[in-house]
Amino acid sequence: MPEDPDVVSRRLARESLDRDDATGWFEDLYAAAADGEAVVPWDRGTAHQLLVDWINESQPEGTGKTAVVVGAGTGWDAELVADRGYDTTAFDISPSAIETAHRNHPGSRAHYRVADLLNPPADWHQAFDLVVEIYTVQALPRPLQPTAIHHVTSLVAPGGTLLVIAAAAPDAAAAPSDAPTSDADPQSGEPQGPPWPLTRATIQSFTTPDLHLIQLDRAPSPTTPSILRWRAEYLRD
Ligand SMILES: C[S@@+](CC[C@H](N)C(=O)[O-])C[C@H]1O[C@@H](n2cnc3c(N)ncnc32)[C@H](O)[C@@H]1O
Repeated sequence: MPEDPDVVSRRLARESLDRDDATGWFEDLYAAAADGEAVVPWDRGTAHQLLVDWINESQPEGTGKTAVVVGAGTGWDAELVADRGYDTTAFDISPSAIETAHRNHPGSRAHYRVADLLNPPADWHQAFDLVVEIYTVQALPRPLQPTAIHHVTSLVAPGGTLLVIAAAAPDAAAAPSDAPTSDADPQSGEPQGPPWPLTRATIQSFTTPDLHLIQLDRAPSPTTPSILRWRAEYLRD
């Protein structure tokens, strides 16, 4: 029987993290998936429902504007954003993910690029009117999250919007519905990621003096209602 895709991705992640390589496993997984030897567990084959909801509610008009999709994987969210008229850049650290995005979306108007969120191109600084971040920061070990968050926020242009969608870590005084998304380490109590769901404080840390949190929702995941998801929207002055 084929291995459970979640088990395969967790094994590749653990091997990579044990080598002190926090991001190498993404390429291992996407390359194995391209060879038919694994399934990327988060690859939905469609845009994220919370992004779809935000677009339907906000009706953003992207013509003449730029957007970037962080950790874009195989491109489903980027295609939705590009369809709204944004001149869309979509990047991922995994070359195989970007190759698959090109294969999935021939003739796409989005620009797919291999790039590292932890060291983004200098000319992306405050260059995008819309920044979409879904599940990339939470896929990085907690010590790397502040750097990743700093670079996500640095992408937002003056007057621009940042949308963050992430798994929600339980609040300190957890309500019964605050179910953790992965097993906790018995010693530290920390979740044994990936993922490392984002706390409320982490969501609030995407702000800067001129980048403000203007809307925050925490709701059951559209696909797995036992898991809570953040949908956070920020606006730069
Ligand atoms: C959990 S997946 C989510 C993918 C996609 N955003 C989605 O929601 O389906 C995290 C993605 O971030 C990418 N990634 C991880 N670290 C990255 C980094 N430092 N720079 C760019 N992409 C990264 C991975 O390759 C992977 O595609």
